[in-house]
Amino acid sequence: MIKVSIIGTGNVAYHLAKEFEHSENVELIEIISRSTINNDKFLSNKQSTNLSFPKDADVYIIAVSDSAIEEVAQDLKTQNKLVVHTSGGTELHVLHHHDRKGAFYPLQTFSKLKKVNFSEIPICIEAENENDYKLLEALGLSISNNINRINSKQRKALHVAAVFVCNFVNHLYAIGQEICNQNKVDFKLLQPLILETANKILELSPIDAQTGPAKRNDTQTIAAHLNFLTNENQSLLYKTLTQSIIDYGKKL
Ligand SMILES: NC(=O)c1ccc[n+]([C@@H]2O[C@H](COP(=O)([O-])OP(=O)(O)OC[C@H]3O[C@@H](n4cnc5c(N)ncnc54)[C@H](OP(=O)(O)O)[C@@H]3O)[C@@H](O)[C@H]2O)c1
Repeated sequence: MIKVSIIGTGNVAYHLAKEFEHSENVELIEIISRSTINNDKFLSNKQSTNLSFPKDADVYIIAVSDSAIEEVAQDLKTQNKLVVHTSGGTELHVLHHHDRKGAFYPLQTFSKLKKVNFSEIPICIEAENENDYKLLEALGLSISNNINRINSKQRKALHVAAVFVCNFVNHLYAIGQEICNQNKVDFKLLQPLILETANKILELSPIDAQTGPAKRNDTQTIAAHLNFLTNENQSLLYKTLTQSIIDYGKKL
């Protein structure tokens, strides 16, 4: 049985805690946070606020905002225990107050209100020694079938790539919705296209899956679209992404 304590009650902390609650190989010892959990009896029973006297655990998972990890790690008083964070973009160095440190980065987008199938989520693990890696691997395998050993540079690269494929794409959905709303068409009409675009790259490389006026170098349609757009930010994004698609095409 691996004994785990989680620090934080945000999106990632909540989902990890719920998964560990149902895992046979993990005992969730404590959830340490400054705000209280009201809506979940199991989790609220585990809660404490005291980083200075944490209960004994094998692994302490700090799942707080990136900017708070270092401060929380400093306040967490443990000795010779493995302390990890869950951040894609944060150096291990922020855990420098602890002798044994690592990263336990679940590569998914989490919101408390949206259920996720954890068994498919890649968990990217980094540790400074082999024993700690094995411990994190066992912990990861208790909730997911997709465990990956990565180093700090690879974790950062994945995080940057994730911003492109998740956060930026979602922002483009928001712009698409705005354009639909302004022209009184239902954004839902685009849902099958959105799903097919995402599904396509399970079979084709993104380069091969690319379609549209930029890929065809259809300058007439591109000019008509730019003429249609009245919002400066939308025009700028359209031009930048169109040029990027054209440039990628030239590299092939
Ligand atoms: N969300 C994702 O999709 C995702 C995916 C992979 C990895 N991550 C990583 O997971 C970590 C947590 O992200 P999240 O999305 O779960 O964050 P979140 O939902 O915004 O929650 C942040 C948590 O940090 C706590 N916190 C913030 N500042 C604090 C401070 N100064 N002292 C103590 N606690 C503090 C908050 O406490 P209060 O509620 O009291 O403010 C809250 O429990 C981050 O490192 C993030 O990069 C996130």
